[in-house]
Amino acid sequence: MRRKLAAGNWKMNGTAASLEEIRKLQSILPNGGPDVVICPPTTLLFSACSATEGSGIQIGAQDCHAETDGAYTGDISGEMIADTGARYVILGHSERREAYAERNRDVRHKTSTAWHAGLTAIICIGETLEERETNATLDVIAGQLASSLPDAITADNTVVAYEPIWAIGTGKVPTQAQIVEVHDFIRSKLVARFGAQIADQIPLLYGGSVKPDNAATIFEAENVDGALVGGASLKADDFAPIIHALADS
Ligand code: 13P
Repeated sequence: MRRKLAAGNWKMNGTAASLEEIRKLQSILPNGGPDVVICPPTTLLFSACSATEGSGIQIGAQDCHAETDGAYTGDISGEMIADTGARYVILGHSERREAYAERNRDVRHKTSTAWHAGLTAIICIGETLEERETNATLDVIAGQLASSLPDAITADNTVVAYEPIWAIGTGKVPTQAQIVEVHDFIRSKLVARFGAQIADQIPLLYGGSVKPDNAATIFEAENVDGALVGGASLKADDFAPIIHALADS
């Protein structure tokens, strides 16, 4: 049995007052449900870790530097993230790949550094609309997987999130057949490279406009083990039904 995981990516949203949403979420989580991770902005890592201590919710960051320390003004390292008590870090999100020109090899280096700090990396991959429309999706996914993932992957240190860029924040969701096709493809690529024993245990998340009303259908796909949720993770009342749908899947 693979573990199920619901991860919330708050992006550049949230101040101290938003911790109330995390507290509220704790009170409406299903018993024995999936793993739940909230990735707030860096400013809230410490306080979010304190607020969730002893609860079923883990905290993650949204990026880290590829080096462990040094003269990198404004950046934070994997070790610093771990120091806050956070256990996860999102790497290679398309918003960072686009806005900061992060390449697959940057993602691979960051992943190794994050592992070194004891963090679990949530590695994001996904195609643009143009790539989807020119039937390049599977080639793009294969390339991102091959170049973004270091060799020393395990089911404990890595989660892979498939986020079609055109589905992020748009309300557009791929057809169920497209979700199944890409997730099955990712699993087969992981099996081919890392062997079934490791690959079959790595959680694969779908991300892009996951909402309370579409989550249950998305979770029907055999190789979808959870979701990476943006907008709908900001409010406990929106995120909780998604987590419950995952628990029931
Ligand atoms: P939305 O759920 O807002 O579409 O965002 C998805 C995402 O980018 C999560 O990382």
